Amino acid sequence: MSSPAFSLTMLAAAVAVVATTVAVPRAEARAFFVFGDSLVDNGNNNYLVTTARADSPPYGIDYPTHRPTGRFSNGLNIADLIGENLGLESTLPYLCPELQGQRLLDGANFASAGVGILNDTGFQFINIIKIPRQFEMFQQYQERVNELIGAEETKRVVSGGLVLIVLGGNDFVNNYFLVPFSARRLQFSLPAFSQYIVSEYHKILLTLHDLGARTVLVTGTGPLGCVPAELAVRSPNGLCAEEPQRGAQLFNSGLRTMIKGLNKEVGADVFIYVNALQMHNDFINNPQAYGFASTKVACCGQGPYNGLGLCNPTSYLCPNRSAYAFWDPFHPTERANRYIVQQMLHGSRKYMHPMNLTTIMAMQHSTN
Ligand SMILES: *[C@@H]1O[C@H](CO)[C@@H](O)[C@H](O)[C@H]1NC(C)=O
Ligand SMILES: *[C@@H]1O[C@H](CO)[C@@H](O)[C@H](O)[C@H]1NC(C)=O
Ligand SMILES: *[C@@H]1O[C@H](CO)[C@@H](O)[C@H](O)[C@H]1NC(C)=O
Repeated sequence: MSSPAFSLTMLAAAVAVVATTVAVPRAEARAFFVFGDSLVDNGNNNYLVTTARADSPPYGIDYPTHRPTGRFSNGLNIADLIGENLGLESTLPYLCPELQGQRLLDGANFASAGVGILNDTGFQFINIIKIPRQFEMFQQYQERVNELIGAEETKRVVSGGLVLIVLGGNDFVNNYFLVPFSARRLQFSLPAFSQYIVSEYHKILLTLHDLGARTVLVTGTGPLGCVPAELAVRSPNGLCAEEPQRGAQLFNSGLRTMIKGLNKEVGADVFIYVNALQMHNDFINNPQAYGFASTKVACCGQGPYNGLGLCNPTSYLCPNRSAYAFWDPFHPTERANRYIVQQMLHGSRKYMHPMNLTTIMAMQHSTN
């Protein structure tokens, strides 16, 4: 492709750029760290041998490049929109080779489509970055930043960073409810399973705290029984499927209580419960009020409710992406994501507990 001499020159130039730009850590920048599943994966799975991927059209049709990026949306996902609203630099997928030098200081996205709270969730996707591995990568990230700016500054970047973690949905749809007699269903009743994953999530969040995170948004799941995929297979009458709905209720209320206790345990309001269930229910219960023609039918898919199969070039694609709450059988459109992020920023304690993102930012600004 190029001569060795040319490559060496390029390398020398790259090293020089890194050396000059990294010498001055920016005072005001806040890093953003993202963990979790397909709701926030911004491309890590593109680098893996997995079936959980969003790298073919029409994914990304409304992204600035109009190309698929690995995001499970027509455009931006909630991690992108939080960053956009707070004026944060956009974070790269941790596996992206461009994540180097100065860019590391903006944070990183470790999320991987298909993962859950449990290690056995998403096994059918073959090679995905499960949570213990996402945390190993976060440690590796900190070592790399350490080499650039030293231990003190690295600690400041991490503790001053905003963290988003999105987990839980796959533990139901891609584990407990995956097949009628799943191993987890044989092991646990629905309430016992919900309690179990909440207790495992507690350990995950404590680990995140041990790794230095100090401002962590933790989202509950949306209404799992109302997504087009569940309507297609479990709902002959078009009503939200009962069992997944009950799972979502149990998980979300357990999570909210667990987070309250966890904040007491760590002695500060480190963890913020994001009531994604309520945020979704708002537009599912009253689509017209939010400008949605449909919250039952996916924009891109096949079969009843467009809820079957994959979103790919052979799918039926809706004429107006903004009129739909769901982009594919499981994931919201950018327009729905925008509503969710507005509630994260400005919502009352019913949506954001103990406080919304605007309040957090204002408090942290005044103490700095
Ligand atoms: C998941 O795997 C990690 C290490 O790979 C382990 O530490 C953890 O205990 C496992 N979680 C469960 C619930 O088995
Ligand atoms: C698409 O839907 C949005 C939201 O309902 C609406 O505001 C817009 O006018 C629609 N666009 C077209 C071309 O119909
Ligand atoms: C949420 O944010 C808004 C600012 O957008 C603020 O006025 C409001 O009081 C906050 N609500 C709570 C409960 O923190």
